[in-house]
Amino acid sequence: MTTFFGENSFAMPAEISDDELTEIGMILSLHRNCDMSVYKSKYMKRRVAIRMRAVRCNEAAEYCALLRNCDLELDLLQKTLTIHVSQFFRNPSVFEKLRTDVMAGLLKARENDSPDPLRFWCLGCAAGEEPYSLAILLRLYFGREVRQVPVSIVGTDVDAETLKIAQQAEYNEDRLKEVSTELREHFFRQHGSRYQLIPEIREMVTFVQGDITSIEQYVKSDLVLCRNTLIYFNRPDQEKILNGIADILPNGGILVLGKSETLVGDARQRFVSVCPVERIYRKL
Ligand SMILES: C[S@@+](CC[C@H](N)C(=O)[O-])C[C@H]1O[C@@H](n2cnc3c(N)ncnc32)[C@H](O)[C@@H]1O
Repeated sequence: MTTFFGENSFAMPAEISDDELTEIGMILSLHRNCDMSVYKSKYMKRRVAIRMRAVRCNEAAEYCALLRNCDLELDLLQKTLTIHVSQFFRNPSVFEKLRTDVMAGLLKARENDSPDPLRFWCLGCAAGEEPYSLAILLRLYFGREVRQVPVSIVGTDVDAETLKIAQQAEYNEDRLKEVSTELREHFFRQHGSRYQLIPEIREMVTFVQGDITSIEQYVKSDLVLCRNTLIYFNRPDQEKILNGIADILPNGGILVLGKSETLVGDARQRFVSVCPVERIYRKL
């Protein structure tokens, strides 16, 4: 084969057809019990092509044969399809808005209400950066209220490996770009080039492995963060997920989406916008 790079070098993988993508989805579903049909096909094809390049497969048929026979490749493909990029206080203005306009109201309503904990849920929580950011925010600004109102923070992700990292709560500096030196000193212990969150914050968060499309597994919550996750799903599944979230929020409950995400379908009638810029919505 002759390519720009010379004889015998690897060419870009051929375009993956819809049928080939369906086959890859079926192999994953059979061997890893995960339903890939929920993701946008353009996104899936881009991610599968990344793996095909990595293992130097030109043709999707060749890649399917590899997938059927190689557990490691199944793991690597699943990992590539579920991107875990996150950061503490990612988009800091969202956390600032939650602090100034949302948290006090939620805590106050609960003070005079039931003894149930105030429940926060992060869907697609990656390695825990987002639920731990909420925990830090509560500890920093609402210490008195949190002593009176029991609070539960749950992080859910489909990927077991990333949840293990979440439980260890040890991070490279790139995850802490939005954390000031003062906060790093207060809430983290540095081990060489890594930063481990202090037990006081770790103990505030519980992690549960789960699939965002299985509404049966949804956790009753007062505030749901579902940021930078919905974007990978096709439209019917985005609608299903948003309606599922609306079902488990009480009236007045809060939903936060990612900066490039928005409400779609029926769910638009079930929420009112609290802050359009920060994608914060209140359940009607
Ligand atoms: C880009 S990260 C977003 C992390 C965090 N919410 C943030 O905004 O920084 C997307 C996360 O969604 C998770 N995810 C993808 N598909 C999922 C599914 N079907 N159910 C639950 N989590 C899923 C991925 O494993 C990944 O950790």
